[in-house]
Amino acid sequence: MKIKNICCIGAGYVGGPTMAVIAQKCSKVKVTVVDINEKRIKQWNDPDVQNIPIYEPGLSEIVEETRGKNLFFSTDVDRAIDEADMIFISVNTPTKTYGIGKGMAADLKYIELCARQIAAVAKNDKIVIEKSTLPVRTAAALKNILDNAGNGVKYQILSNPEFLAEGTAVEDLRNPDRVLIGGDVETEEGREAMDALVNIYASWVPKERILTTNVWSSELSKLTANAFLAQRVSSINAISELCEKTGADVNEVSRAVGMDSRVGSKFLKASVGFGGSCFQKDILNLVYIARTYNLQEVADYWEQVIIMNDHQKRRFAANMVQTMYNTVAGKKIALLGWAFKKDTNDTRESAAIYVADYLLNEQAEIVVYDPKVTEEQIYSDLDYLGSRSGDANRQAVTVVDSPYEACEDAHAIAVLTEWNEFKELDWQKLYDQMLKPAFLFDGRRLLEPKTKKEIGFEFYAIGN
Ligand code: NAD
Ligand code: UGA
Repeated sequence: MKIKNICCIGAGYVGGPTMAVIAQKCSKVKVTVVDINEKRIKQWNDPDVQNIPIYEPGLSEIVEETRGKNLFFSTDVDRAIDEADMIFISVNTPTKTYGIGKGMAADLKYIELCARQIAAVAKNDKIVIEKSTLPVRTAAALKNILDNAGNGVKYQILSNPEFLAEGTAVEDLRNPDRVLIGGDVETEEGREAMDALVNIYASWVPKERILTTNVWSSELSKLTANAFLAQRVSSINAISELCEKTGADVNEVSRAVGMDSRVGSKFLKASVGFGGSCFQKDILNLVYIARTYNLQEVADYWEQVIIMNDHQKRRFAANMVQTMYNTVAGKKIALLGWAFKKDTNDTRESAAIYVADYLLNEQAEIVVYDPKVTEEQIYSDLDYLGSRSGDANRQAVTVVDSPYEACEDAHAIAVLTEWNEFKELDWQKLYDQMLKPAFLFDGRRLLEPKTKKEIGFEFYAIGN
């Protein structure tokens, strides 16, 4: 089966970069990324490629190279579906905020809308690919909708979860540890569809790294992979608290443990808590699925990863208050970093939002500097929590363009994102501008403690 036309529904953090890389590596395939969000599509089509809506190192160069040649961004969803041989569904699957499973289950309404739209538009056979992260067995629901709501068109449903991490998306896509493709291995048509997708990836990924499985294994592997990664962060964060009580240093413990090749060194960096759009959502979803099968122990086991993470964010903020003589009311606190990790402008579930909210409840005055996050986004993140009115957020929080401006006359600095540029700041200059004693809280173990203490900072780092 030769694929000439690919459509991707959803031009977000996954759809945009993934399709840009496919377009670059498969120059003979036409790739159209569609979205209902007009503003987002307009940004993807901005003549100045620096204005595309997602910041990822290396992404703008690929978009510049491919856009208008074999990569297109459009709001005409119907047309792209009609033309495509292969359709990736890469829409958001957030945690439900209403009804059954509220706060736990994945909200599949956007997925279902895509399926119904495909069924309504398609005139010839299609391969439909789950790129979004979905509960195990979603493919059965998709197939049901497509087969029953369509007009006799035949569909093959594949699961092809995405494992890219933000900030390194382009590198992860170019050189993935593995590509996972789940499909109907029992039938000839199913295997043919899987082969068609394998061939797309085989343009640049070595065949031995392309795994094919049954569709349920593929769906469940994605949730499991995220749960395992997040579990490692919560595990080391749990130990960070014990380190603070015992004089052990979490970086040293992490190194000693991670050098065991059976454990491995990655994802053992203690922090103010993991953020991002997926870890929490996907674990909650896993917990929910386990509960629906009445597997209480399984559910409780994974839920603890989230409980630990919430505790870590809260305890970091509580420690700031306690260290500053049990009150931060009216004190100016500079937050360096708002993104959930470095090298991205994404702030979804960022620990910074929760730390700020806690400090605002204690009536602190907050000033934020982040090299990539806009003022509009920061206010929108705080407003979304609903802890206070939008006006109150705008009164208590200021967003500035320079770290030096953020720290002027501040009582304390908290480093909440591990941006490289924070290491290179003139810390003596920052110290000189601050009120004394000048507190410095490192939520990322980014800064070298000795020199900061020599300057005169009251220095606190997670897990030390
Ligand atoms: P996102 O919110 O950035 O993008 C989703 C896009 O889909 C939005 O622009 C939205 O407007 C669009 N959309 C929703 N319904 C639509 C419809 N009916 N028709 C057309 N467009 C529609 O989300 P994301 O971060 O790209 O994540 C997408 C999926 O990929 C999620 O399931 C997520 O769990 C998964 N995932 C995300 C990452 C990541 O790093 N962000 C990594 C791996 C997997
Ligand atoms: C994560 C996974 O790494 C990807 O494989 C997956 O595709 C993606 O989720 C997804 O499904 O959305 P991402 O959330 O972009 O990617 O970024 P990570 O690098 O995993 O970081 C997540 C959070 O954990 C960040 O807040 C990061 O600062 C934190 N973290 C990570 C730590 O605190 N310590 C670590 O050692 C590693």
